[in-house]
Amino acid sequence: MLNPALGIISRYRDRLPVTDKTPVVTLGEGATPLIRADRLAEYAGLPADSVYLKFEGSNPTGSFKDRGMAVAVSKALEEGARGVLCASTGNTAASAAAYAARAGLRCMVFLPKGGVALGKLAQALMHGAKIKEVKGSFDKALIAAFAEAKKSGFVAVNSSNPYRIEGQKTAAFEISEVLGRMPDYQFMPVGNAGNITAYWKGYRELKGSKPKMMGFQAAGAAPIVLGNPIPNPRTVASAIRIGNPYSWQAALRARDESNGVIAAVTDREILNAWRLLARLEGVFCEPSSAAGVAGLLKSGKKGHLSGKIVCILTGHGLKDPDTPLKIFKS
Ligand code: F0G
Repeated sequence: MLNPALGIISRYRDRLPVTDKTPVVTLGEGATPLIRADRLAEYAGLPADSVYLKFEGSNPTGSFKDRGMAVAVSKALEEGARGVLCASTGNTAASAAAYAARAGLRCMVFLPKGGVALGKLAQALMHGAKIKEVKGSFDKALIAAFAEAKKSGFVAVNSSNPYRIEGQKTAAFEISEVLGRMPDYQFMPVGNAGNITAYWKGYRELKGSKPKMMGFQAAGAAPIVLGNPIPNPRTVASAIRIGNPYSWQAALRARDESNGVIAAVTDREILNAWRLLARLEGVFCEPSSAAGVAGLLKSGKKGHLSGKIVCILTGHGLKDPDTPLKIFKS
């Protein structure tokens, strides 16, 4: 096996849209741990050795975005881009800023004003991204970013960029390698819906029985569940505070082709799952990352889950130091 520290492009070169001419921009992303979570399984009423946590917080900038950004920024560099830009609830911005810095490209990020966790903002600043704050939700920031991409020629590295999806699909390969087969269920948060799209693409490229894709939106930001866009999405989980996801249709396809579910969990359920992960398993993810686990706890109680279950923990808890201090102050 190739040294995992070389990053996803080296490891999965034959399954990614790169050639010998593509300059590889990597920070050693991927090869994140798949953590067996027996105490969480027991809490959910499930047998030992059934629940695993894919901890994407241990990527170089602390979220799963690094997988997609490695490919998107490498391709932008190959194609002679002047710079990259994105709209973001924070993690995409942090990742784009870091990979652009490494590639020697300029980076511009459009952020919902007041809607980005502290650590993510600090990362974008530190890596030298030009920050544009947009009044309103992520959805408005995305419109502004697309308009700027048209005007400036900077490459948009949101999950609208197919190279992002290609990079992110590699997490499905890793899970299958570690388990020796694909899981039976995969629980994960859904925001702009790029990641559920990417995982499903990854699983589709493998041979064998595929997982049911179980996606969870926050109840105050659940357009896919409700079937219409939400003008003012609300949730404590700022990373998935999105009212009109770009990959809406692709997420529905992932759900339907896999016989899965896209459902909502309340902020209370998200925060409960988030705290349980920290206290039962020693795993500190950001609140949004716990939405899939909140969904698992709900489904586990109904008693129709079986086999191997993977929960995707999308980002590191240190991204958002304010939320624990606000919620668990005493
Ligand atoms: N979890 C975290 C920690 C995220 O940052 C995001 C999305 C998601 C889950 C949802 O993934 O959008 O592919 O469905 N963050 C984007 C951003 C929107 O700008 O960082 P998705």
